[in-house]
Amino acid sequence: MVNPGQLPWAAALELRRRLREAGCPDWDWEGPWLVEMVTGRQPRFDDTPLTAGQAAELEELARNREKRIPLQYLSGKWDFLTVTLRVGKGVLCPRSDTELLCQEGAALIQRIPEPQVLDLCAGTGCVGIGIKSLVPGAQVTCLEKSPQALEYLKENCSAYGVAWKEGDLFGYEKELPAQSLDLITANPPYLTKEEMAQLQPEVAWEPAMALDGGEDGLVFYRYLAARYGDCLKPGGWMALEIGWEQGEAVASLLEKEGWTRIRVARDYEDRDRVVLACRP
Ligand SMILES: C[S@@+](CC[C@H](N)C(=O)[O-])C[C@H]1O[C@@H](n2cnc3c(N)ncnc32)[C@H](O)[C@@H]1O
Repeated sequence: MVNPGQLPWAAALELRRRLREAGCPDWDWEGPWLVEMVTGRQPRFDDTPLTAGQAAELEELARNREKRIPLQYLSGKWDFLTVTLRVGKGVLCPRSDTELLCQEGAALIQRIPEPQVLDLCAGTGCVGIGIKSLVPGAQVTCLEKSPQALEYLKENCSAYGVAWKEGDLFGYEKELPAQSLDLITANPPYLTKEEMAQLQPEVAWEPAMALDGGEDGLVFYRYLAARYGDCLKPGGWMALEIGWEQGEAVASLLEKEGWTRIRVARDYEDRDRVVLACRP
């Protein structure tokens, strides 16, 4: 129990122990991090005892984290590349793995003046906003279907000068003028039915709609490969985040649909993470 009058570092040590016992993978840095979230100061440089309000707030945070509610949801905001995004229940937490999708996508449009970019399955908007931060001249639109996720998307996009739209990826391509885009990005739901049945505790708090990619995890990729080519200018690109075991499968279904220059990029853990494909 966190108590008023406790020194911040003592509270941080206690939280570390509790989070370790609760099975939180990053208990060692999360304990001090939660204390800093409440006091605004790093606990190891802080000898001001906790007030009653701070102790109560910290205790509530600790109990929620013990339930394995994602740290991002407890914080309400999260850093991604150089931007800070609003996040909470109802939307997927932005992950550092996804930064690679932005970097690879941005590299493809770097030399195009005012490139037109569409980010599908936008969630918080991290991908579209991330691209805009790397290529400030880009005209980016983010599409999202979930009303809960849209609340976060609207706020984040407004803060960073990115357009957003409510819509369903399955059919939205019909609203797009032919050959109008330079880049389509997407981090679609890609877990298989089997993976959906054994989610990590933190991931189980996130919306199923953000995770469920159908029986084999590839439902969204099949549709994107078959239907979204016509919206791209000749020589335009599609950049897709994938599950680390899906590189070959996604590359092969893009190839079957006539995409060219297909490449799989690997993340910092040296795992397949992004597939890039060009419209001939
Ligand atoms: C894996 S999450 C990615 C979110 C965000 N791009 C990111 O990288 O953190 C997939 C997102 O797709 C959205 N989504 C699911 N089905 C959709 C559909 N049919 N049309 C548009 N968006 C959809 C989900 O609500 C979720 O926000």
